[in-house]
Amino acid sequence: MKNRKVLITGGAGFIGSHVVRHFVKNYPNYQIYNLDKLTYAGNLENLKEIENKENYTFLKGDIIDLEYIRSIFKEHNFDSIIHLAAESHVDRSISDPLIFIQTNILGTSTLLQVAKENWKDDYADKLFYHVSTDEVYGSLELGGDFFYENTPYDPKSPYSASKASSDHLVRAWSHTYKFPVVISNCSNNYGPYQFPEKLIPLFINNIMHKKALPVYGEGINVRDWLYVEDHAKAIDVIFHKGKLGETYNIGGHNEWTNIDLIKELIKQVDQKIGNQPGESESLITFVKDRAGHDLRYAIDATKIKDDLGWVPSLQFEEGLGLTVDWYINNSDWLNNVTSGEYRSYYEKQYS
Ligand code: NAD
Ligand code: DAU
Repeated sequence: MKNRKVLITGGAGFIGSHVVRHFVKNYPNYQIYNLDKLTYAGNLENLKEIENKENYTFLKGDIIDLEYIRSIFKEHNFDSIIHLAAESHVDRSISDPLIFIQTNILGTSTLLQVAKENWKDDYADKLFYHVSTDEVYGSLELGGDFFYENTPYDPKSPYSASKASSDHLVRAWSHTYKFPVVISNCSNNYGPYQFPEKLIPLFINNIMHKKALPVYGEGINVRDWLYVEDHAKAIDVIFHKGKLGETYNIGGHNEWTNIDLIKELIKQVDQKIGNQPGESESLITFVKDRAGHDLRYAIDATKIKDDLGWVPSLQFEEGLGLTVDWYINNSDWLNNVTSGEYRSYYEKQYS
């Protein structure tokens, strides 16, 4: 196996931390560099397990900072990039869109441009891998068709429009400069270390603390859920075997309406923390719908299965069980995040 110098951006976030851990553990001959700005969503506690490994380096910085990105490229000479850093929460993109434009569009272009400057025209063994979302395809009808790799882009929120723009920029570098890229578009992830503003960790936390469970609209929207470690494994497979210039959809064929998922969560959490069965259903509170709320996402993941041999390893019931157990057993992590204490981890460990 070749030695590689892999820059992973956004590695202190939810999915990024699973990807960093996966690569540090499974590829001891790779040098893994985690570049993260540590926004509210970045938490280095997520990486405690590997922070002292010899093949791991943390770099604190902003992907839109051109001179900083140039300086780290000059110092470390990365041969590949797995780009996950982004503003990722749809609700925040509705209330505060401009940071999404800056980070997701300008940040991605900055990385593309600096990688191109450094790799010159020698693209042998080089790779720019953009980790993207199924939301770029827009919204599906209930019970209808799926998102395929050739589904036309139709993003509807500031978040998904910014991710669609970054996908287009990555393809433009590929088309114009023959730049070595690959893109994946994944469905909703769940699992350990997810920031508790997203549906599943927010609701687990609220059930544990007997707080209201705010269901947007009627709870009929459908999401296609994938366990985060299965996403990290798919990223590994695409990184090593994906064909340059291609796009791969990643998903679990696992659609749930929000309300059914919430009831399943309530069932599992109530049982595990010793509540009466269904006790927390009284916490369900229907609230005003999300503006422009996409009705349904559902991925067709045939291409990655047929071409690269990836399929999800976990059934949803098992993945959700592991997730609920993790948040119950890691209440310190959850409390540090909800209290803001996690913000001081960087100063304690790295200053
Ligand atoms: P997250 O919000 O948990 O983490 C994002 C990370 O990026 C954080 O550590 C943050 O500090 C960092 N970051 C943000 N702005 C930065 C900047 N300007 N410079 C450097 N670092 C910065 O996000 P996530 O849910 O882990 O998503 C990771 C990626 O995967 C995103 O690109 C997202 O669009 C994509 N994705 C997410 C999902 C999902 O269900 N969460 C599904 C498909 C694709
Ligand atoms: O599909 C992939 C996308 O999944 C990623 O690209 C995004 O980064 C990620 O945040 C996620 O987007 P969603 O908007 O689907 O995830 P969220 O957890 O915010 O919401 C899931 C569903 O639950 C959605 O239909 C809105 C609803 N919801 C969400 C919250 C936070 C509620 O009903 N109540 C809530 O409080």
